[in-house]
Amino acid sequence: MQKVDFLVIGSGIAGLSFALKASAKGKVLVLTKVNADETNTKYAQGGIAAVFDPDTDSFEKHISDTLIAGDGLCDRKIVEIVVKEGPDRIQELIEYGTNFDKHDGEYDLTREGGHSENRILHYKDITGKEIERALLEEVSKNPNIEILTHYYAVELITQHHLGIEVNRETNDVTCYGVYALNLHSGEVETILSKMTVMATGGAGHIYSATTNPVIATGDGIAMVYRAKGRVRDMEMIQFHPTSLFNPGEYPSFLITEAVRGEGGVLKNKKGEEFMHGYDPRGSLAPRDIVARSIDAEMKKTGEDHVYLDISFKPKELILQHFPNIYEKCLSIGLDITKDQIPVVPAAHYLCGGILVDEMGRSTINRLFACGECSSTGLHGANRLASNSLLEAAVFGHRIAQDALDDFDNLTFQDNVPDWNEFGTEQSNEEILVTHNLRELQRMMADYVGIVRSDFRLERAMRRLKLIKDETEEFYKKTKLSMKLCELRNLVQCAELVIKCAMKRKESRGLHYTTDYPYKLGGKPENSVL
Ligand code: FAD
Ligand code: SIN
Repeated sequence: MQKVDFLVIGSGIAGLSFALKASAKGKVLVLTKVNADETNTKYAQGGIAAVFDPDTDSFEKHISDTLIAGDGLCDRKIVEIVVKEGPDRIQELIEYGTNFDKHDGEYDLTREGGHSENRILHYKDITGKEIERALLEEVSKNPNIEILTHYYAVELITQHHLGIEVNRETNDVTCYGVYALNLHSGEVETILSKMTVMATGGAGHIYSATTNPVIATGDGIAMVYRAKGRVRDMEMIQFHPTSLFNPGEYPSFLITEAVRGEGGVLKNKKGEEFMHGYDPRGSLAPRDIVARSIDAEMKKTGEDHVYLDISFKPKELILQHFPNIYEKCLSIGLDITKDQIPVVPAAHYLCGGILVDEMGRSTINRLFACGECSSTGLHGANRLASNSLLEAAVFGHRIAQDALDDFDNLTFQDNVPDWNEFGTEQSNEEILVTHNLRELQRMMADYVGIVRSDFRLERAMRRLKLIKDETEEFYKKTKLSMKLCELRNLVQCAELVIKCAMKRKESRGLHYTTDYPYKLGGKPENSVL
């Protein structure tokens, strides 16, 4: 058994931002399920949005763009907090050693869909890799932070493990730490904490096509829901309009929206720029609209992809801004300075997640959440591009501020039992996990994708029930493995997505249903479970 002041699950921008701040007050332990840098953060391409040019931009404009993209479901107070605190958090990233590209001594601000000004700081087309590098280097210099890699958080420890019944309605659940599977030894260890921060990222792998690395399996959200915390707006799945169409590649490689920000245009196979037929903003309309338009165009033409063309721009600009995409495409025989890029939408970002307040407090005592696994109210029904790295940095900081006030009064819960694996056996049928995972991902892509309907959602729920029953049965009988736990969590997240989607009897933002193609009047409601 280990005891730590602050326990952080996840080593992306959210978890590390918190860890660096909290280390001023106590010992921080960061658990991460694979190598420390293997995070969604590392794959971020486009950049991080904030008001850095007061001559052309303003907080009001960034707030307004975020609210418009969010389609009525954003929490205005949270939007204002993130936009106004954002530049200070980015300044800290710079102080930690993050490089952002400059032009004539000024930050080279680029643009993405839904932004009315150029306000995206970036480092070539590998911004996330640069941020993750700088954060990990800063953490490595800090004696108060320890990172345990290849530790997989399995369950939150609450009163439930002390034999006390808890439920979602009473709001009196308390988190005492986690049970974590040490992937080196295969043993489940008990880690007690005064405060726990969930920073486990998204859940892209509920779908068969996603831009997310394989770590994005919704673990934190599923753990919190099982521990009787609340989640919100899980139906709001953002499909990125332009992942590289490269059959057989999994996960999908992203072609950053910044390509369109720099003038790239979407075309169909006939070479027509079809986006203006769907939205006056053309290829740079907000993501939900572009993804849906591509989906409609593919259905109309019967093609399995469309094209993104930047080849008419100067070669130097392309090579300087998009070296990673250039190299990747070249590796499959495409020269983007001459050729069009075949693209297709793919699941990219989860706008909903663990319900938290303006200080990142979840509905479970002593448990906080930040980054993609959380639902702060910033993104509403559709996230504005490059607002998620920003949100993670802002909330990592806010949680540390809040946690530090309370921290001294807290004690460890001592009578927590060890993990009980009685009745489980080593499985010789791990392949069943893979089969169920594929079935789940295909089913979600077929019935809970960009365009939904009641009929499809009901179908999805029926199929999910079978996969869930089989997975739970396997879980009860089998010695834990990371793959099995991830499948269980993905199944749980998929169920939450379908349930939230069934609750929403309108089309709003990322949730589009042919049964209710219009928005309901009045004040829009969040889907809370
Ligand atoms: P992550 O960075 O995903 O970190 C999650 C961490 O939790 C990992 O360390 C993981 O191993 C760990 N973890 C998960 N489950 C467990 C468990 N059970 N036990 C232990 N550890 C666990 N956003 C932008 O703002 N701008 C962009 O340009 C941008 N580009 C993107 C490009 C791509 C290809 C992708 C996939 C996303 C992009 N995003 C972008 C979104 C953004 O990268 C993510 O939302 C953000 O990085 C999430 O950060 P995080 O710290 O919340 O989670
Ligand atoms: C991209 O670079 O297009 C991704 C940006 C984001 O997801 O915010």
